[in-house]
Amino acid sequence: MLSLQAKKANTSIKGQDLLTLADYSPATIKALLKKAKELKKAYLSGEPTPILQGKILGLIFDKPSTRTRVSFEAGMLQLGGQVIHLNGQELQLGRGEPISDTAKVLSSYIDAVMIRTLSHERVVELAEHATIPIINGLTDLYHPCQALADLLTIQEEKGKLEGIKMVYIGDGNNVAHSLMIAAAKVGMNLVVATPIGYEPNEKVTELAKKFALENGGEISIESDPTQAVAGADVIYTDVWTSMGQEAENAQRLIDFKDFQVNEKLVLGAKDDYLFLHCLPAHRGEEVTGEVIDGNHSSVFQQAGNRLHVQKALLVEILQ
Ligand code: CP
Ligand code: NVA
Repeated sequence: MLSLQAKKANTSIKGQDLLTLADYSPATIKALLKKAKELKKAYLSGEPTPILQGKILGLIFDKPSTRTRVSFEAGMLQLGGQVIHLNGQELQLGRGEPISDTAKVLSSYIDAVMIRTLSHERVVELAEHATIPIINGLTDLYHPCQALADLLTIQEEKGKLEGIKMVYIGDGNNVAHSLMIAAAKVGMNLVVATPIGYEPNEKVTELAKKFALENGGEISIESDPTQAVAGADVIYTDVWTSMGQEAENAQRLIDFKDFQVNEKLVLGAKDDYLFLHCLPAHRGEEVTGEVIDGNHSSVFQQAGNRLHVQKALLVEILQ
C-alpha cells in the first residue's frame, strides 16, 4: 500500500527521514528555512561550518542529476562530513539483493542515505527497514528537497509565504506534488493548471487540500492556464516529460502545447511576478527563453538554494 504520509507530523526531525513534506509540520518546515538562511549567510561570508564532522552520507542515484547530486555532495563536505556514492548497479541491490537487507546493512556503516529512484514505494521500503535517516532525492511521486528550495526562494524574493498566490503550469508530476504539499503547509494559495489527463495524483491533492485547510492556504486544480495565472505572485513550471517518461514525449508535446509559459501567458500575472523552474529546463517547450532568461526569473537563485536547504536538513537530522 502506497504510503503518502508515513509518519506523524512532529517538530524535531533528529534521526527522521524526509520521504515527503507531508510528514513535516509547518513549524518544522519554517525552522528548516530559518536554518537554511543562517547557513547561506555563513557560506556567503566564508565562515566555516564543520557541524557534521565524522558523519557519512550515502548517495544512491538510479536516475541522472546535476543539482541534487552536486548540492548534497558539496553541502556535506562544507559541513565537515563525507559522502559515499552507492551506484545501484554496483551494489548487490543491482543483482537482486532485497532492499530490506540492503537497508539494514547500510544502517550499520553510514549515518544517512539520500536516494533518487523511480518508484516512491522503493524509498518507503528502504526507510522502513533502515535505522538511519533516508532522504528522498526525487521519486516518481515527490521531490521534497526541491520544494524546500522553492519556499526559501519565494520567501527571499517576496518577503513572506502566507497568502502568496503561486501558479504551477504544466504536468501534475513529482515536483507539482511536493510543491502542493509544501505550499499547503505554509499557507500559500497554489493553483495547479494541467491539461486534462495530466492532473496531480488524487490522493496527493486530497492531502494537500487538507493541509491547506489546516494552515489557511488554498489548493486548486484547473485546466485553463490563462485563467489560472490571473494575479499570480509566482509562476512555476517543470518539464512536460519527466525522467522515465521519454516514450511519451511526442504525445506530451502535443498535449501540453497550450501550457507553455511565454510572454503572452505571463501578462495576466502581477507586474512583479516571480518565475521559478526546478531545472533542467527545455527552452521552447514548457517555457520560452524570454521568460526563463528574463528579469522576473530567479531560477539560478532557486537552484543555488538547494545547497542551503539541504545543508539545513542534514544538520537537523544528523546533529
Ligand atoms: N531540480 C533537480 O532536482 O535537478 P537535478 O535533476 O539536476 O538534480
Ligand atoms: N519532473 C522532473 C524533475 C527533474 C528535477 C523529473 O522527474 O524528471
